[in-house]
Order: sequence, then C-alpha cells, then structure tokens
Amino acid sequence: MCGIVAYIGQRDVCPLLIEGLKRLDYRGYDSAGVVVIRDGRLRVRRAAGRIAELERKLDEQLSGATIGLAHTRWATHGAPTETNAHPHCDQSGKLAIIHNGIIENFRVLKQFLAAKGIAMKSETDTEVLAQLISHLYEGSLEDAVRKALREVRGTFGIAVIHADEPDVIVAARRGSPLIIGIGKDEYLVASDAAAIVQHTARVIYLADNEVAVIGRDGFRTTTLDAAPVTKEIEEIEWTLEQLELGGHDHFMSKEIFEQPEALRNCMRGRIDLDEDRVVLGGLTTVARELVRVKRIILTGCGTAWHAALLGEYLIEELARIPCETEYASEFRYRNPIIEDGTAIISISQSGETIDTLAALREGREKGAMVLGFVNSVGSTITRETDAGIYLHVGPEIGVASTKAFLGQVTVLSLIAAFLGRRRHLSASSCHDYLAQLLKIPDAVEKTLEVSDQTREIAAEYIENENWLYLGRGLQYPIALEGALKLKEISYIHAEGLPAAEMKHGPIALINEDMPVVVLAPRGHWYEKSLGNIEEVRSRGGRVIAVATEGDDEIRELADHVLYVPNVPELLQPLVTVIPLQLLAYHAAVLRGCDVDKPRNLAKAVTVE
Ligand code: G6P
Repeated sequence: MCGIVAYIGQRDVCPLLIEGLKRLDYRGYDSAGVVVIRDGRLRVRRAAGRIAELERKLDEQLSGATIGLAHTRWATHGAPTETNAHPHCDQSGKLAIIHNGIIENFRVLKQFLAAKGIAMKSETDTEVLAQLISHLYEGSLEDAVRKALREVRGTFGIAVIHADEPDVIVAARRGSPLIIGIGKDEYLVASDAAAIVQHTARVIYLADNEVAVIGRDGFRTTTLDAAPVTKEIEEIEWTLEQLELGGHDHFMSKEIFEQPEALRNCMRGRIDLDEDRVVLGGLTTVARELVRVKRIILTGCGTAWHAALLGEYLIEELARIPCETEYASEFRYRNPIIEDGTAIISISQSGETIDTLAALREGREKGAMVLGFVNSVGSTITRETDAGIYLHVGPEIGVASTKAFLGQVTVLSLIAAFLGRRRHLSASSCHDYLAQLLKIPDAVEKTLEVSDQTREIAAEYIENENWLYLGRGLQYPIALEGALKLKEISYIHAEGLPAAEMKHGPIALINEDMPVVVLAPRGHWYEKSLGNIEEVRSRGGRVIAVATEGDDEIRELADHVLYVPNVPELLQPLVTVIPLQLLAYHAAVLRGCDVDKPRNLAKAVTVE
C-alpha cells in the first residue's frame, strides 16, 4: 500500500517524482517524502498528510537534480508523522532509502546498531535498515545493500541512494512489488506500473531476493548473493488514458460504467462456440491434472472472497468438483489439511494481497496445485502460481472493487464450464451456457440504466444508519458484496445475510428505520425471497427489491423495485450486483464521502 517512485536519468527529477507519486495516490497513504542528490549532497523533504503538503516544501535546492527517490507511506511502525515519513537517512546523512514492507527483526537490528552507538530518529523499521546498510558500507552501495538484506527477516521493496555514488540507484525486493521502467538513458523504479507508464512501456519485474543496480546508461540484476540474473523486458499493456477518469466524477463510477467493456475484454478469445468449449491459454500446462482434481479450495480477501463464494457454487454445479471457500487470512494460519488432488485458486484484483499470497504459499508448501485468478499482470501472485487466468478488466483505481469483482465472477464462470465440459457437461449444455455468458455484457449495459433510480433511493434513505441485504443461493454472496460496498464507501452500517438466517436473530432489528435490500430475481429461490419480503414488511421495514424485468407481482410487496434483465440463474449475480454497486456509490456521493479513497482503507493490503 505504500508507494515507491525513483528516477535516474537526464531530466529534472523532482516534478517527475511528484507526478509519479500522484499516480500512486489511489493506493492510500498518510505521509510522503522525496530525496534527490544535488551538488554531492542529499536534499530530503518530507510531510505528513497529502502530497500537496510535500509540494509546499519543495524549493530551489532540489531543482535540477537528475537522481532521486520518492515515497508515499501508510504507517505500520510509528505514527504518520513527518519524522516517520520516508525517505530515511543514515547518521551521516549520505544514504537515503525508501521502503515498502516490514522488517520483522528490526528490534534486534536496532539493538545491534545501538550497541555500536547508532541512534534512531524515527520509530520506523525502515530507518533501522538505512543505518544497517550505512554501517556495512565500505565504498560500494550495492555490496552494502546485499550484505544488509541478508541479515533482514521480513518483506521489502526498496530503493537506495548514496551521496558519494550520485550515478546509481540500488533497488531490491522480497515480497513487495518492484518494477523497473526502461527509458532512453533514463530508468524508473516503482512499486506500481501506474507511476511508470507515462514514461515508458518497457519494464522488468524484479523477483524476490533480486537486486538491481541502476545507472544512467544501464542496469544489472543479481541475486542477494551477487549471482547475475538475466531479466526479460516486458511491455506494459495499460495506457495512461486507461488510468484516468474518462469523464466521470470518480474512478468508482467510471469503473462501474465500463463493466460491459471490461467483461467483453475478459471473455475475448476465451469462448469457442463452434467447438462448445472454453479456451484458457494460461491453464494449458496444468489442464489435464486440473480436470482430475478431487477438491478445489477457493481463497481471497474482501470482495475477491465474495467472488470465491460464487465460484464454489458455479464449479460444484457445472463441474461437480467439491469446493470450499476460505478466507485467505484464516487458511494461512490454521494448518489446513491438503490431500492429494487438491487445487487452490487464489483470487485477487491486485495480485499483491499479503494474506492471499501467504495462503497460496501454504497450499503450495503442502503440495497443492496453485492457480491465480488475478487482474494485475505480472503481480506477485501471478509469479508464484503454477498457472492462472488474468481477469483482463483493466486497471481498477477506486478502492472499492467493482469491475474486478465482475471479472472474477466471469473467470470463475469460465473455469466452471471449462472443467464441466471435461467432466459431466454435455456439448449442448455447455454451448447454451457459454452463449448466454457472451450476452452478459449487454445485460450489464442494460442494468446500468437503473443508476438514476438508485440515486433516488439512496437519497430517500440517506439518514438511515443501518441496512440489511438478504439473498439466497447465488444471491447470498451478492448480499454480502452489496453490504460491503455500502459500508466501505458511505460508512453506513450494513449486513449481508443468507435470507433464511434473518429469522434467527437479525429480524429483531427490523423497524421503519431499517432499509432491507432483498435480492429476488426469478428462479429457484424466488418464492422464498417473497416470503422474506413479507416478513420485513410486516415488521415495518422498508424493502428495496432487486427483481427480474417483467415481474409485476413483486411491485405489490416491495417499496422499491430495481429491475435487472432476465438472464439464466447461474449468471444472475453478474447483473444483480450492479444496482447494489450503484446504490453504494450514490449513497457515498450524497453523504459527501471520499468515494475513491474511503477512510482507513487501501487498495492493496500488502502488510498484515
Ligand atoms: C482490500 C480492498 C478490497 C479488496 C481486498 C482484496 O481490502 O480494499 O477492495 O477486495 O483488498 O484485494 P485483492 O487485490 O486481493 O482483490
């Protein structure tokens, strides 16, 4: 969640670094800082709060420099103050470092350094690392960084500079993403492609325990033990325009409205209706083994976990493979039983969520096949899995996940058919299902027309502080997702429940101050859902129903009806979630909340 941007080249570095930091703004941060080398000296500026605070502190002393580091920090060790902000320097003021991650043994290292008479100014683990590198420095920054990192336990993505070596940046990673952008006589280092893409599309991704030594005219990569590593140069597919707002007030709105296109991209080339099959290039190497697995564990966090729950329904229904969905954070710590023939599917937008990553490592350690269904190309999860499927929905900037969720559910719908077809599903059933799936982007487009109506409903209940979301079967994960969307961006308390559970407790809460969203599309659970609506109404609750187009009956029962197009039951979640995303969005806007950067939340949770 912290952001790293570094540059070495020919240009005035400061404006470039600040612009890079702004591109990483969406990841969430609480302080920022920058350091450059000019006239053989480090010039450091830091500020608590927004990047604008830091900009106010920039002055002439920094201008004209052509090497520098910049950072946005999300506090882990120590309060979000200027003193704790990065960059951190050593005692001599010659070495500066920016760091993402956590140095777990920093207390021991701090004691070691204290015994040598080295005192810390901040409360951070990062300053300890700066001092350690400096302590080991004997004229070569790259050697000192390697030596220091061999002593470190924990995770890091770092960039380091030294005033005595004004033509080199040393970068290294373990567990925190780091990308090197390759320009003409210039190089960038960043924790996220968004900070690089306006300068170059050519990048390398550092792997764990790799070190890069970057000059103005080239770079080298090695392991921590100084063994040379040859890296492949890759192209970033995302353009800068894709990262910008495109006429919307917020990224969340942009991302909700671009879902039809995102889904078309997600499915492109993956459905072969002539052969009644799903083509998933990323699974080619594991397909035979995967089809024979006895059990699938789906795991993720937050919204990705809701997608995983839907995946369980879909895979069990179409492929008849027993599935379990686990919170990644629980799975990683409970010594799970992994029998032969188990596959783990890690679902993640960012591909960097630490709990999801740890869960997949745990699974791999115990011999499971591990797959990643990830949006962010080249992210850590994609590098640690046996195989995977990219969501291909484009970058998601709003902290509240929307189009990535739809992408996750779509990819899960594809894998369910992919496995199903190779097991029990007939060619014709598979054909029908896939033909319907291909129509979903149009159905989503149609569903977006409820936006104005959701704004009106949000306005009517804007003073209500508690909401319930009820759903059965495939609509239960959607109830959870709808409630999560509302609470995370509008700060209204909301609970999602399997509808039948309402009578086991939550029903006691219902009165006229409790809006209740009931997911009641036509299908298996329709009659039962009508029963739930009656129960809510008879206790004075206000009902907002999500129902299938043409269902007039439900109008008699509910206070409001949000209609979605008629799609096959297994695919309904892809449309019923849309009105709930919009409800949350409008509620947050009406309450004046920071929609894209809700308080206390970050886009990617890369530390525990
Ligand atoms: C954070 C975000 C959520 C997201 C979750 C999992 O909590 O705020 O929106 O669902 O992480 O993120 P991932 O990148 O792994 O999908």
